[in-house]
Amino acid sequence: MGFPKDFMWGGATAANQCEGAYLTDGKGLSTADVMLASKHGVPREITDGIDRNSFYPSHQAVDHYHRYKEDIALFAEMGFKCYRLSIAWSRIFPNGDDHEPNEEGLRHYEEVFKTCAEYGIEPMVTLSHFETPLGLLKYGSWANRKVVDFFLRYCRTVFTRYKGIVRYWLTFNEINVMSTKPWMAGGIVVEDEQTTMAAAFHQFLASAKAVQIAHEIDSDNKVGMMYNGHVAYPASPDPEDMQATLDFTHKMLFYCDVQCRGYYPNHKLKEFERKGIMIPMQEGDAEDLRAGTVDFISFSYYMTHTVGKKTDMNFQGLNGVKTGYKNPHLATSEWGWAIDPMGLRYLLNLLFDRYQLPLMIVENGLGAIDKVEEDGTIKDSYRIEYLRDHILAMKKAIDIDGIPVMGYTMWGPIDIIAASTGEMKKRYGFIHVDVDDEGNGTHNRTKKESFYWYKKVIESNGENLTW
Ligand code: BG6
Repeated sequence: MGFPKDFMWGGATAANQCEGAYLTDGKGLSTADVMLASKHGVPREITDGIDRNSFYPSHQAVDHYHRYKEDIALFAEMGFKCYRLSIAWSRIFPNGDDHEPNEEGLRHYEEVFKTCAEYGIEPMVTLSHFETPLGLLKYGSWANRKVVDFFLRYCRTVFTRYKGIVRYWLTFNEINVMSTKPWMAGGIVVEDEQTTMAAAFHQFLASAKAVQIAHEIDSDNKVGMMYNGHVAYPASPDPEDMQATLDFTHKMLFYCDVQCRGYYPNHKLKEFERKGIMIPMQEGDAEDLRAGTVDFISFSYYMTHTVGKKTDMNFQGLNGVKTGYKNPHLATSEWGWAIDPMGLRYLLNLLFDRYQLPLMIVENGLGAIDKVEEDGTIKDSYRIEYLRDHILAMKKAIDIDGIPVMGYTMWGPIDIIAASTGEMKKRYGFIHVDVDDEGNGTHNRTKKESFYWYKKVIESNGENLTW
């Protein structure tokens, strides 16, 4: 009973949300660097190049680029076994299509991974987390097959350079976000379905080829897919609501079908046929998709959705997918995300029943506004409660349902900028960073109450969840 001995406890970040240093050491611009911040739920504006008079959250973020040693030391103090982070592709290939990699970028991540190793922390690296080199936009980004080769050049470079230091890789963060926010998922500006589905196909192909290359370079490499975990409940037992729920689930889960089974599900092929959507498959691609299925499934889990016949299946949104229904049984976060720990157990079961692959929760957490008390402390019991309840649900999935869960990296162990809004005040961390929505502050790090709680959780391998 309980969590496996080698359970990978830890935390997860993304380069563009924490590093800052957006042009340091030869880095090129990425799609994340031209996104402005927005307020509560309003989509972030994308500018054409850099507007000198505007504030871009990714440009300094929380300065993890320069402070990673201090941050990883704090993660180690909590007992992290795993740190999920992403490499900014534009640090390695500043324009995306360069012939030679940027040595300074490669050296930086080498130092980061070495620092992890000093503490016995296993890095898990996302190759593409919501940022594509801006230089690839002239090709139409992921809508163009050429980008597959540029991506594979980058993959080969980092797989070779970090051989033996990094064993766990994730190809595309929340690949299914291509259906909801194509700009974030792959720098796609034209949002018609023909374009987004072609871009998704190119990412499937790139991922499948990357899996094969990773195995070729080092047979110890394990490569996972990364799914934005969506659970949909029907608004009522009305068969039409049930059908809408199935449609919603299909729309999201087909990304897992392709990456885990190696081919498109029938319902998707039929839908493409009806809509006249062409998947730009070439000879040999079908074989590549099958040969490059993933070793494990990683996913993010924040909330569940309620779906019914009113749901517009052409929804736009990231986690804030708009379904037109609110679940009366669930409380919501300050950003309106339905809090549902039981849904995590449900999703773990659903994914394992369907694919029989090991699972890893690589994102889960509560974005909340924290108050710094006069004595400097932060009493974030709401965050502890959220995480405790989700960890308990995960424990049930392991103990009662026998689901093989490899690990749990909560989202944003240190405060970072929010992906959906670019806000700093939407905080997830155990570690507070003194910086506000406009980038003002000392960037000093302080431990919140949840820091000490998570330390106990890891020390007891998930047995002691009390506060
Ligand atoms: C996931 C992303 O969708 O949700 C992260 O992979 C993101 O990058 C996280 O930060 C939480 O969303 P937000 O908008 O609260 O940062």
